[in-house]
Amino acid sequence: MAKTVKTNELTEVSEAQIAVHWKEEEYYQPSEKFKAQANLRDQRIFEKFGLDKFPDCFKAYADMLTWFEPYHTVLDTSNAPFWKWFVGGKINASHNCVDRNLAKYGSKAAFIFVPEPEAEQDAVITYQDLYTRVNEMAALLRGLGLKAGDRVTLHMPMVPELPVTMLACARLGVIHSQVFGGFSGQACGSRIQDSGSRVLITMDSYWRNGTLGDHKANADIAVRTAQELGQDVDKVLVWQRYPGKYSAKTPMVAGRDVFVNDLLKQHQGMNVDPVPLPGEAPLFLMYSSGTTGKPKGAQHGIAGYLSYVTATSKWILDIHPEDVYWCMADIGWITGHSYIVYGPLANAATSVLYEGVPTFPDAGRPWRIAERLGVNIFHTAPTAVRMLRKLGPQEPRKYKYHFKSMTTVGEPIEPEAWRWYYDEVGKREAVITDTWWMTETGGFLATTVPAIHAMKPGSCGPAAPGIHPIIYDETGAEVPKGSGRAGNICIRNPWPGIMQTIWGDADRYVKTYFGKYNKNPRSKDWRDWPFMCGDGAVQAADGYYRILGRIDDVINVAGHRLGTKEIESACLTVPEVAEAAVVPVQDEVKGRVPEVYIAVKPGVQPSQDVIDRVIKANEEVIGKIARPKHVYIVPDMPKTRSGKIMRRVLAAISNRRDVGDVTTLANPDVVEQIRIMVQGKDAAKTQEELPEDIAKFGQVE
Ligand code: WTA
Repeated sequence: MAKTVKTNELTEVSEAQIAVHWKEEEYYQPSEKFKAQANLRDQRIFEKFGLDKFPDCFKAYADMLTWFEPYHTVLDTSNAPFWKWFVGGKINASHNCVDRNLAKYGSKAAFIFVPEPEAEQDAVITYQDLYTRVNEMAALLRGLGLKAGDRVTLHMPMVPELPVTMLACARLGVIHSQVFGGFSGQACGSRIQDSGSRVLITMDSYWRNGTLGDHKANADIAVRTAQELGQDVDKVLVWQRYPGKYSAKTPMVAGRDVFVNDLLKQHQGMNVDPVPLPGEAPLFLMYSSGTTGKPKGAQHGIAGYLSYVTATSKWILDIHPEDVYWCMADIGWITGHSYIVYGPLANAATSVLYEGVPTFPDAGRPWRIAERLGVNIFHTAPTAVRMLRKLGPQEPRKYKYHFKSMTTVGEPIEPEAWRWYYDEVGKREAVITDTWWMTETGGFLATTVPAIHAMKPGSCGPAAPGIHPIIYDETGAEVPKGSGRAGNICIRNPWPGIMQTIWGDADRYVKTYFGKYNKNPRSKDWRDWPFMCGDGAVQAADGYYRILGRIDDVINVAGHRLGTKEIESACLTVPEVAEAAVVPVQDEVKGRVPEVYIAVKPGVQPSQDVIDRVIKANEEVIGKIARPKHVYIVPDMPKTRSGKIMRRVLAAISNRRDVGDVTTLANPDVVEQIRIMVQGKDAAKTQEELPEDIAKFGQVE
């Protein structure tokens, strides 16, 4: 038995856990001023959303939407665990995000687009403008023969044309699959193939870190990749970053590529009635990484998803139509879908949409934007917080903006970074919500409700209303509530925001999220289907959760999920590479970064050239975010006698830790050779425990 110690909150935690994780922190209280204006202040909300009220409690969420025809069933579990929310009703997401705001907010800004070049003017898009642009784009898409249920892949940057395109798809019931603009052409191509899209929508170019790059080149690679995988793309629609001007060098392909701006001229002033769609029809796909090398397309449905992001935008982000809200995430990730596009628009928000990187041209940029536009709700990721802090710790003081509320998402935030966010960025006035959730869950799972709960740095907080987590150990036994002991966090009940399935792979959906803890695969009772989130977590005595990171060999790089197997397969595309193993390394800004170990084929000389090509392969197959911190060519991989690569040992080496007992390995000598290569001959062997996600890394098979 591990010795236990008591912390100031009477939470029992093992000494090892204290070493691994930060200690329990003091609470911070929301201000009276914030509480007085908040959308959700009623403490009884948690009773109203108790498990005994499930699933009817979520009617309140569906009521926040405008329906063409009412639904008759809140939750249909007849094909468990493929949940159907709000069945029988007819609805349209585009109608809810655009049309219904016209009467009251037509002349109010929906988006204020801020280009990366600071000298370039903002573009204000009112709800009326958005309506016009979405209708014209919907007419264009309809003109191409696209209809409800078809898939279209988008590979677009952070420009207003992206939400316009998404909402135009949603208007017709076309399922959009936006691939993060920073992903490579190849990564986009494999997602085109998986989704079966015949149309790719992209943009010629966009600004990133001071450069107007050639993004159209990626479209050509994407189409070629998709074709090699068996999927033909008939049309590539190319938006122009500067309408009327082509900003890329790559030529347009005759018969296939069309400028959206040209085609739009034929659809000027056209209106397309929003198609009344079944509440449970799919809205979009969002690809994400998991244990295998193949990204999975999380499929989200219209009514469940939209109601969930609408309610959480209102209650947790506390968006009022009068606020100026800025989420710095990229729309290419789930955060942008839920909390830049669908949730905020359904609440008639005014949002800042910023094209570029937060630190361009300097670390004062976000605060200048906030001051100039009167931003009062700010939403970002710990990586950006760490980066802005590192490059400009005093910068926020120079600007006269005032935030009432701030959000962090995507990674655990260290208490130290949290406090800088609170003290300097929030000027000790703003509440912070640390929102924990994932692509598959559509919206927040655990967070404080800002006007109700105290904040605790480093802990995301209790579960969101209507979410009922449970932590299981490996054997399926429940880890006692509030015990501070680590386990796999699951959600007992379905909720409207949960994904519907993995596109084209229903088995993988069942196995990945329910396989471990479902005891009766035939059950139609939701109680038998706890949803496994894929994170390790602990719950403190006060009910707050602290997230320890992924348990499925996914590396969270700057808040982005990268699959180990995807990186390893990218390395193996270099012909000289015989074996590759990837491990996460702690990084002061990005949280984790991948580090790569490769063994070359017999007869191949280790060389810088091979290393460079491995790096390039990762950029080409996945994208620049997958660039490894180091690539080491090793004489052999540490292996078990059965030939399994011991990634755990490599992770310890990369993170400057002691490797522990390796005598049972097939080749223990090689471990010391690798250790010297990475840590140097006399590197101090530290006994400090590894964070849970790194310690557990490589255990999933
Ligand atoms: C991690 C992003 C700690 C977690 C919305 C999860 C977090 C993965 C938090 C999902 C948080 C997200 N604290 N960890 N507040 N939010 N994560 O799918 O490991 O890109 O499983 O969705 O990010 O990443 P995804």
